[in-house]
Amino acid sequence: MNKSSFGTHFTVTTWGESHGKALGAVVDGCPAGLSLCEEDIQKFLDRRKPGQSRYTTARKEGDLVEILSGVFEGKTTGTPISLMVRNTDQRSRDYGNIAYSYRPGHADYTFDAKYGFRDYRGGGRSSGRETIGRVASGAIASKILDSMGISFCTYTKSIGPVSISKFEPEEINNNAFYMPDAAAAAKAGTYLEECMKNQDSAGGVIECRISGVPAGLGNPVFEKLDAMLAQAVMSIGAVKAVEIGDGTEVARSNGSSDNDGFHMDNGQIVKTSNHAGGIMGGISDGSEIILRAYIKPTPSISQPQDTVTSQGEDISLEIHGRHDPVIVPRAVVVVESMCALTITDALFVNMTSRLNRIQEFYSR
Ligand SMILES: Cc1cc2nc3c(=O)[nH]c(=O)nc-3n(C[C@H](O)[C@H](O)[C@H](O)COP(=O)(O)O)c2cc1C
Repeated sequence: MNKSSFGTHFTVTTWGESHGKALGAVVDGCPAGLSLCEEDIQKFLDRRKPGQSRYTTARKEGDLVEILSGVFEGKTTGTPISLMVRNTDQRSRDYGNIAYSYRPGHADYTFDAKYGFRDYRGGGRSSGRETIGRVASGAIASKILDSMGISFCTYTKSIGPVSISKFEPEEINNNAFYMPDAAAAAKAGTYLEECMKNQDSAGGVIECRISGVPAGLGNPVFEKLDAMLAQAVMSIGAVKAVEIGDGTEVARSNGSSDNDGFHMDNGQIVKTSNHAGGIMGGISDGSEIILRAYIKPTPSISQPQDTVTSQGEDISLEIHGRHDPVIVPRAVVVVESMCALTITDALFVNMTSRLNRIQEFYSR
């Protein structure tokens, strides 16, 4: 089965290929009454748009969103919201030499192994452009969350060997990499220049901090909130690992330093630290949710690479299309969008967790 849908009550289906007529998403389960216009969605799409710096692909894609349904007189109607972005700058001829060969690091071989037929133009359905539908629907989820006091701070923590050494949130939108540290951003630029000179690419780490999430979201067994977030973020192309809180560092920690203590603060239960990253036993604990996504280097590089054709011939492949030397900056808003979709869905699912709340709701 071709699983293109995500979510239980707030459901998103993405559709389209990188070189087809258009891409988009259908959002089903958005409550009626949310003020929504194309600008709300465009702001998010502009954060993933190519051509914003010399480190993102030179393709001039307008990526302008059209809302086709589900909004009337500026408000959502409770019916499916269909979102579309037309493909306007796709040069299929760039992809001629990969029609019958498998690009290393891409889904070409595995897609053929599964379907026996593929749209080779720019990766088709497996292209980074598929994330347009995720970001467009993530904008709607974020607007719902914002109205409930839930907010996101998402940024680049590292590119290649260059990591941030300070956190200045006002700096995030001042550099091409969305790094909260201007000096680290400058070093990342120098590192990427070197990669580009060597016809190579780099990876990096994105951190997403979610504030205002109430305690109680998620489930104790299979649909743990951390598992749902990890699944959502790992479903983004090029994401190779996801961490919550202290992540893999916990393996080197001790119980005495890893456990987050509790204390009372003005009648509220709060934690004394947040090693768990805001989720315990699969359920949000009311503190900030902290997630990191590890992104691999852009697989399309113009260095010659060993590969084979679909006819089984060994060849050397050079990829000459237009590709980012690093995916990380454009994936920042994609990671944030997948987290927003997950938290929105978890909020909606959680509405049926207590009988007294259902009784209260229907007795109004
Ligand atoms: C926002 C975004 C943009 C991407 N842009 C490119 C690109 O320009 N060139 C490229 O080779 N891969 C790009 N990718 C990554 C590939 O789509 C991905 O690595 C490939 O489909 C293989 O999937 P996997 O890395 O998850 O195994 C992009 C991914 C994302 C999320």
